[in-house]
Amino acid sequence: MKKSIRTFLKVAEKDEIARSANPAIVRASTIYFKTMQEMRSHQKKISKGKKVLHWDYGRQGSQTTIKLQNILRELEQSYDVFLTQTGFGAVAVFNINKFCFFANFIFKISKTIWIIPNCVYRPTQKLTSQLLKEFKIKTIWYDPNNFDDLKNKVTKKTKLIYVENPGSNSFEFQDLGKIVSFAKRKNIYTAIDNTWATAYYFKPIKLGFDLSITSATKYYSGHSDVMAGSLAVSKKVYKKVWWYNHVSGYRLSADDAYLIIRGIRTLDLRLDKHHENTLKVIKWLSKQKKIAKILYPHNPSSKSYKLWKKYYSGASGLLSIIIKSKSKNSVYSFVNSLKLFGIGYSWGGYSSLAVYNDQTEMGDRRFFKIEKNHHLIRLHVGLEDTNDLISDLKNALRKVK
Ligand SMILES: Cc1ncc(COP(=O)(O)O)c(C=O)c1O
Repeated sequence: MKKSIRTFLKVAEKDEIARSANPAIVRASTIYFKTMQEMRSHQKKISKGKKVLHWDYGRQGSQTTIKLQNILRELEQSYDVFLTQTGFGAVAVFNINKFCFFANFIFKISKTIWIIPNCVYRPTQKLTSQLLKEFKIKTIWYDPNNFDDLKNKVTKKTKLIYVENPGSNSFEFQDLGKIVSFAKRKNIYTAIDNTWATAYYFKPIKLGFDLSITSATKYYSGHSDVMAGSLAVSKKVYKKVWWYNHVSGYRLSADDAYLIIRGIRTLDLRLDKHHENTLKVIKWLSKQKKIAKILYPHNPSSKSYKLWKKYYSGASGLLSIIIKSKSKNSVYSFVNSLKLFGIGYSWGGYSSLAVYNDQTEMGDRRFFKIEKNHHLIRLHVGLEDTNDLISDLKNALRKVK
C-alpha cells in the first residue's frame, strides 16, 4: 500500500524487536560478528552500497542512525542520505558548518570555480570564499535576483552551483528549475541548502539537484535541543559522498539520531501549523504603518510569490520584517519588549524567536542593502496561539519611535 508522507512519518521504523514506537538507541563502537567470513561478507555489502541493518564499525553509525537515514531517504526521495553532527573536528568552522564542509569537499578539485548566490548563510559565505581559497577553489558570487548574472559568470572551470533558497534573512527566491536545467546542460553539479522549507515542502533531488543540505537542528528536530545535519544525494554523486563519508569520520550520535526521529514524527503537523500561524501574523503585520516590508515567500505581494508557488507546497515559520524608524534604539526596545518571541539564534523549534540583524551581520552582501532608517528583524513564528503572538507584537511595536 502506497502511504502518504504524513502516514509514513508516523509508522516508519518502529522497533519490531523492542516493540517500541521509536527505535532503540544503539550506542556502539564495536560491532560483533560470529565469524571472520561473516565480517568480510558484510564489509563487501557495505562497500557495494547495499542497504544493511548495521555497520561493521561504530564510526559509520549504528542501527539508530540507519533508521533515521531510512526515514530521511523516503522523505527526500533521494538516492541516499548522510548524517552529520556538530562537534567533530578541531577547527571551529567545521563545527559551525559541518554539513556544508562535508558537501563542499567531495568536489574539491584545485583551480575550479563555484558559483554561489550572494545571499547564503553567513558562515557558508565565509567557508566558501575564505576557507576554500586554501584549496585553490574560487568562489564567484552572483545576484540571486538575476538568473542572467549566474549564466554570465559560469565558465568552463565551474564545477558547482551552490544555492540556498530562499536567501538567508533577505529571502530572495530563485528559479530553481531554470538553475538545475542550465547546470545539467553545462555538466555542473548542483547543491542546495533546503533548511527553510525542508524536504516536506520541497524535494530538491526530485527536481534534479545533486545534493540537498538540511540543518536537522531546525524543523527535523523541532524542539531546539539537538544539533544535526542531513545531506541527501542523487545517484550520480552517491559514490563520491560515500567515499568522503567513509574517510572523514563524520557521524551523528545514536542519541541525537533518536531525538531527530522523535521530532520528525510530527514534522508535517508542526510545519503546517508554523505556516498557518505565519500567514495570520503577516496578515496583521502588513497593516502596520511602522512595518515597511515583509520578506516572506508566501506573501502574495512579494516578488517571490510566483516562484514559491511553482516549486514549494508550503512555507515555514521564518521571515524577516523591515521596520521604519530613525531610532535604532527604539527598534532594539521593540525586540527587547517582546515577551513570547525569545531573542536568540537558530529556529525551527516550536517557539517564536526574534533577532535584530545588522547589515554587517549578514556578511558580504553585494546585492541586498538595508536602506537608511530601515531595520531588519528576523522572526520565527512558533506554534503558540497567534492571538497571543499578535498582541505581543502589537505591544512591542509601540516602542518604535
Ligand atoms: C539556512 C541555514 N543553513 C544552515 C545552518 C546551520 O545549521 P546548524 O545550526 O545545524 O549548524 C543554519 C543555521 O542557522 C541556517 O540558517
